[in-house]
Amino acid sequence: MTILGLLERCALKVREAVIPLMGETLASKPVGRGAGGDLTKIIDLKAEQAIMNELKEAGISCTIISEEAGIVRIGSSPDKFYVVTDPLDGTTNAIHGIPFVATSIAVATKPFFSHLTAAVVLDLVHNVLYRAERGKGAYRNNERIRSSQNDDVVNSVLGVDVNIYKALNGKLREKLGRILSITKHPRYFGANALELCFVAAGVSDGFVDLRRKLRALDIAGGYLIAKEAGAIITTPDGKEIEAEITPQTRIALVAAGNKKLHEKILEILNREK
Ligand code: IPD
Ligand code: CA
Repeated sequence: MTILGLLERCALKVREAVIPLMGETLASKPVGRGAGGDLTKIIDLKAEQAIMNELKEAGISCTIISEEAGIVRIGSSPDKFYVVTDPLDGTTNAIHGIPFVATSIAVATKPFFSHLTAAVVLDLVHNVLYRAERGKGAYRNNERIRSSQNDDVVNSVLGVDVNIYKALNGKLREKLGRILSITKHPRYFGANALELCFVAAGVSDGFVDLRRKLRALDIAGGYLIAKEAGAIITTPDGKEIEAEITPQTRIALVAAGNKKLHEKILEILNREK
């Protein structure tokens, strides 16, 4: 089986585990604290177990970097490759029964964004699979996808992460306010792996998360898929995202379907006032 085939099988197992729990009281039962620092809910744990079991059953050797369990080395040569996963992205949505949740599973030769080689993100409710391999483009189910060519920032559909807005400092709030007041169509759906797949497929024109609260694990898969679809993704000051991917790594990002829109967003964010 190909590596993408294995990732897809893991994602489908997550779907089987998560869908029956969506909107159920049991889903939100806390079961400890994950390696990423947040409370782990039963629904997160079930999603992670589904991936772990599938990888172990496949008899492969790798290092798994996951939100709840942290770093888990399996088999005799675990440094051969890394499986980077947010088993359940959009836990709050899942608990409330909001149909925007995903699993994100990526593979890398080293735990860095620049070393990602393959990824799947499965929209768990609609059973839509986004996938990519480095240098081979991105797909939604079996259809090739490409990011948007719209560079009209006012009329763009722009994902803007406004989660925990109250915890942001004044400067970040001001930048966020500038973006929100320029685009006519800001959106926040609550699962950033899928938000990046929307950018990949040209469903939205861009996605901005300035908070530095987003886990690298949440978006490693979506990052490769969006890049392979032609999107531009950098830090808010225009630098490559080159952080080491650990359960604790947090990042901020600006993604856009094309270079012109990306430049316009950066200019708005970083102008003096
Ligand atoms: C969350 C979602 C959400 C973002 C949060 C993430 P989780 O992921 O991606 O959109 O605003 O920062 O933590 O916790 O459901 O895996
Ligand atoms: Ca998660």
